[in-house]
Amino acid sequence: MLDELFHLLRIPSVSADPAYDGDVQKCAEAVASSLTKAGAINVEVMVTPGHPIVFGEYIVDSNVPTVLVYGHYDVQPADPIELWDNPAFEPIIKKTDIHPEGAIFARGACDDKGQMFMHIKALEAMVASGDVPCNVKFIIEGEEEVGSDNLDDFLEQYKEKLAADVVLVSDTGIIANDTPSICVGLRGLSYVEVEITGPNRDLHSGLYGGAAPNPLNILCEMIASLKDKDQRITVDGFYDDVIELSDAERKAMARAPFSEDAYKYSIGIGGTEGELSYSPPERMSIRPTLDLNGIWGGYTGEGAKTVIPSIARAKISMRLVPHQDFEKITDQFIAHFEKIAPPSVSVKITPMHGASPAVTPTDSPAYKAASKAMHDTYGKEPIPVRSGGSIPIVASFERILGLKTVLFGFGLDSDAIHSPNEHYGVFNYFKGIETIPLFYKYYAEANGNA
Ligand code: BES
Ligand code: MN
Ligand code: MN
Repeated sequence: MLDELFHLLRIPSVSADPAYDGDVQKCAEAVASSLTKAGAINVEVMVTPGHPIVFGEYIVDSNVPTVLVYGHYDVQPADPIELWDNPAFEPIIKKTDIHPEGAIFARGACDDKGQMFMHIKALEAMVASGDVPCNVKFIIEGEEEVGSDNLDDFLEQYKEKLAADVVLVSDTGIIANDTPSICVGLRGLSYVEVEITGPNRDLHSGLYGGAAPNPLNILCEMIASLKDKDQRITVDGFYDDVIELSDAERKAMARAPFSEDAYKYSIGIGGTEGELSYSPPERMSIRPTLDLNGIWGGYTGEGAKTVIPSIARAKISMRLVPHQDFEKITDQFIAHFEKIAPPSVSVKITPMHGASPAVTPTDSPAYKAASKAMHDTYGKEPIPVRSGGSIPIVASFERILGLKTVLFGFGLDSDAIHSPNEHYGVFNYFKGIETIPLFYKYYAEANGNA
C-alpha cells in the first residue's frame, strides 16, 4: 500500500504550471489503473477543458446507498525547492516528534494523494474481503489546487452518472492523532491580483523622487489601510452577510482543545493577531480574513538600484464565512480598492479564484456513520470542528447534485501541506484505510441495508 502510493507521489502532477501538463495526465492514468486494480469498473480518464477527471465505480445493488468519493490527484508547486530536506517528488519515510511511527515526506503526501489513495485501498480491501456495503463512485480531479474551474460544468453534464446519496471527501484534517475530529465547515475564498501603475516607465529615484508617485509606496499604504487598528477589514460592506454564531455554538466549538503556546511554538511566532473578541481558533474558522499572499515590483535583485518603479503588484486572498458570497465580496473589494487609490496612479484588479463557504450537518446519517467509524478505530468520539481552508467543490456538490458532504480527513495541520517538507503520517494513512470501510458499514446500516 505504501509502494503504490509512492508511485503516485513520484509523478509531479502540479496543476498550476503548464510545464507539468504531461505529468498531470500521467498521474490521472496512474489513478485510473489503481482504481481498476482495486476492483472498480467503468474506469475512465475523462477529458475536460483543463486537466482530466478520473471516474470509476463499484456497483453492488440498487438497494444499497451510493457514496460519491471525491479527491484530487493534483498538487501544489514544490517551490521553494531549496527548503526541502529531501526532493519533493522522491517520497521517503522519516520519523518526527509528532509521527514517531514515521511519516511519508513528499509533495501531495497529505494533500491529497495520500488521503485520496486511502479510499482506493479501502475499496480494494472491501472487494477482497467480499464485503462492500454501499455502491461507490469515484471522481478524482486534477484541478483542485487551481480552483476546480471545470468541475461545476462536469457535475452539470454528468448529473446522472454521478447520482449518489452522499459525498465522502478526505482532504481535511483531525485535531491530533489521539484527538479525532470531523471537519464540518470550510471557508470560501476570493482571490485577487492588484496592479498599481504610476509613472509610464521606471524612473531615477534621485532625479524624480519626491514628486513622482511611487506605486510600491502607494500600494503598501493602500494595503495597510485594508485593516483598522482593531484588525477589522475595512472593505466597504465586507461584513454585511457574515453570520454571528450563537454563544451555544461558540461554546461547542471551544470543546476542541487548543493551546495558544503550542500554536505559537509550532510556527515560531511571538504572538497571535486578529480580532480580540474572538479566540484564535475562531479567527481561523468562523471569521473572514484578508491576507497579502505576495507583493512585488521595482528592483529585487542583488545589490542596490535607485529606482522608482512604474508598476507594483500584489496578490490578496480573502477567506469567507457563511453567508458571504465570493462574487459580491470580489466586487466590493474592487470598488473599495479603486476608491482608495490616489488620482496619481491607476489601478487594475484581476479576480483569480472564487470559492463558496460550506457547512456540513452533524445530525445526518452520514455524519453519524463517520463519527461511529472513527469512534471504533480511535476509541473516542470525534469532535466536530470548522476548518479555515477551502475546497471549492463542496458547495457545488450541494448546489448542483443536491448532495451533502462528509469531510472525512485524517491529516494534521502540522503536516505542512502547501509548504516544503509536506508529509503524512504512516499512522494516519493506515488509520484512514481502516476507518473508511466502517463508514460504509454504518452508513448502509442507517439506510436499513445492513
Ligand atoms: N485540502 C485543502 C483544503 C483544506 C486543508 C481544508 C485542510 C481544510 C483543512 C485544499 O487542497 C486546498 O488547499 N484548497 C485551497 C483552495 C484553493 C486553491 C482554491 C485553499 O484552501 O487554499
Ligand atoms: Mn486538498
Ligand atoms: Mn491544497
